[in-house]
Amino acid sequence: MEIKACLFDLDGVIVDTAKYHFIAWRDLAAKLGFEFTEQDNERLKGVSRMASLDILLEVGGIQLDDTTKHRLAEEKNRNYVAYIEKMMPDEILPGAEAFLKELKSHGIKIALGSASKNAMTILERLHLTQLFDAIIDGTKVSEAKPNPEVFLKGAEALGVKPSECVVFEDAEAGVEAALAGGMLCVGIGSPVNLGKANLVVCGLNEMSFDKLRKLSV
Ligand code: G6P
Ligand code: MG
Repeated sequence: MEIKACLFDLDGVIVDTAKYHFIAWRDLAAKLGFEFTEQDNERLKGVSRMASLDILLEVGGIQLDDTTKHRLAEEKNRNYVAYIEKMMPDEILPGAEAFLKELKSHGIKIALGSASKNAMTILERLHLTQLFDAIIDGTKVSEAKPNPEVFLKGAEALGVKPSECVVFEDAEAGVEAALAGGMLCVGIGSPVNLGKANLVVCGLNEMSFDKLRKLSV
């Protein structure tokens, strides 16, 4: 099957926002009186904002009502947004922009498939918005990864079949979502947790159009 489109997760694939999520969640935990470590933060990758808060509260052994939870999630987000609003294009992960441009030069369509409701702000700050033919973010989906909704909507917006798509993902749930949607998947990170992907690389700097084409044969 010919590859016609590539779908990219944002956080951890194109940009390292995990460090800002971590600072914002750690601050919230400190306010609530417990410590939230970088290792705890690993559990939040690819997880929606409210589900992340649930994990954080589980770490702290705290139970709260829904109204309080929504207030705290908003507070965390305000803190996080203050960081991403200061992001600069030099925070794009190595090789990401070059790979997107290489794909474009070969006529491959490009979509974003991210759980983040802040994806547009981030793409604008990085001056990457124009490279995407479709943007599906946390404001456009109702089901979280590993549900394939975000990627299926991306394929639909691009007018391609799922079997013609390759997804780039750093989270295990994201790899599962891609495969559940009938797409090929390249894991960004370690084969230890991304072993189900068709190929695992350390970063987009290890990708090329040639490597992409070899995936489908
Ligand atoms: C991505 C990140 C998660 C984050 C989620 C929601 O999937 O990997 O860590 O919780 O997006 O982000 P948001 O910007 O909407 O809070
Ligand atoms: Mg990610």
